[in-house]
Amino acid sequence: MEEKKLKLDTNDLSYVRIKGGNRLEGVVSPDGAKNSALIQLASLVLVDGNFVTLKNLPLISDVYDSIEMIKETGLKTKLVDNEVTIMGEPSSFEFSAYYGSKIRASLAFLGSVLSKFGQVKLPLPGGDKIGERPIDIHVDVLEAFDIEVAIRNGFVFAKARTFPLKGSSVFLRFPSVLATVNGILLGVLAEGKTVLNNVAKEPEIVDLTNLLTKMGARINGVGTDRITIVGVTELNSTTHEVMPDRLEAAALMMSIVMTEGKGTVENTIPEHNIPLIETLRRCGIDVVTDGDKVHIDAVNFNKGFQVETRPFPGLATDVQPLITPLGLKCPEESIITDNVFQERFSHVDELRKMGAQIDRFNNTIHIKPNNKLSGASVEGGDIRTVVTLINAALSIDDDSKVYGVEHLNRGHSKFIEKLKLLNADIEIIN
Ligand code: EPU
Repeated sequence: MEEKKLKLDTNDLSYVRIKGGNRLEGVVSPDGAKNSALIQLASLVLVDGNFVTLKNLPLISDVYDSIEMIKETGLKTKLVDNEVTIMGEPSSFEFSAYYGSKIRASLAFLGSVLSKFGQVKLPLPGGDKIGERPIDIHVDVLEAFDIEVAIRNGFVFAKARTFPLKGSSVFLRFPSVLATVNGILLGVLAEGKTVLNNVAKEPEIVDLTNLLTKMGARINGVGTDRITIVGVTELNSTTHEVMPDRLEAAALMMSIVMTEGKGTVENTIPEHNIPLIETLRRCGIDVVTDGDKVHIDAVNFNKGFQVETRPFPGLATDVQPLITPLGLKCPEESIITDNVFQERFSHVDELRKMGAQIDRFNNTIHIKPNNKLSGASVEGGDIRTVVTLINAALSIDDDSKVYGVEHLNRGHSKFIEKLKLLNADIEIIN
């Protein structure tokens, strides 16, 4: 009965059973980056007669949904292990409501399909429930390319007034990641020059433009506030390896830290996680980076921390829930402000069920030090919250259940197996 009450948002009754208290030890690697793979898949509508192979694809449900969306355009896909090849010619600019409405990254099909066809019908996106997620900046970007946009019956209908598109000058009022992706995808085949101002600098944007450049796109300024693109008439075949997932790396680092463990996250790019690494060091945790490895020895928790999320290279909003339970282990109060998603605090109520003392003031939380947690049944409604709760449960010498397995599967492949390799007592109960 109690568990039925807990399950408000989902029909999925599976959960993660955790017996915490084991110190995690060993070496672990993240898979390919979800948010990179998803925008790269969407960009491949531009393949048109050629073929592109993406390697190191994470086998997660968001990726499977994106591949289904590619099929809806008429392109052919071949998935073998962690490698997908996209080939053929797209023939449709209309998507069903089914796949696109499950994921946020479906928005990136706006740019690729408009670039190819000059029109699109796309369902409004889904994805994590982490507060307000309007699409007004996407609409601004489309309108800057002289594209008319209407939203009706749960779909975005967009049509270019002039096609082929003409290059444009665009200013984003906030450096939105997916709106930057749309600006890039509209610019690569547009006639003449496109200038995108105040763009996102996230590593996933750099990885996307590395792929597009290999395909023959002419893009400059990536990783700065201004991207310039000179349109080309067609793109070529290529092969590209998706970068490692910086957020899965962060999640695994926090699994080791929360259990006062000693381990290495390898096959990662430590520069993608500098704000997290510096926060851990500030608390007294021993973190050493060495090439593609991050070595962690979490014995000392000497201080609290105060951090704010910002667009890259600032602390990622996705890391904000992950580091919240760290504050509970510190000997001083810790303070976290989320400036990117101001309502992204659903983990706080769940952590309170485990005994956490956390006060929230708008988009800032104050975490009381030296909190002793106890096992509980809790539920995460988005990817990062589920992982946060798993990590908190791993640190408690008690049994816990974490619901929200469907969200875990949207964002991570074999995450529980990775934790088991590190000596966690954990399993999924279906
Ligand atoms: N925003 C607007 N209007 C828009 C678009 C965004 O006001 O038209 C606001 C958002 O409400 C938010 C801020 O701008 O306050 C940043 O949103 P952004 O557009 O950058 O987020 P996104 O592109 O929709 C991606 C990731 C998220 C990640 C954010 C921020 C994908 C598929 N998603 O979303 O990842 O949190 O960037 O870095 O790439 C996750 O992986 O768990 C996840 C939620």
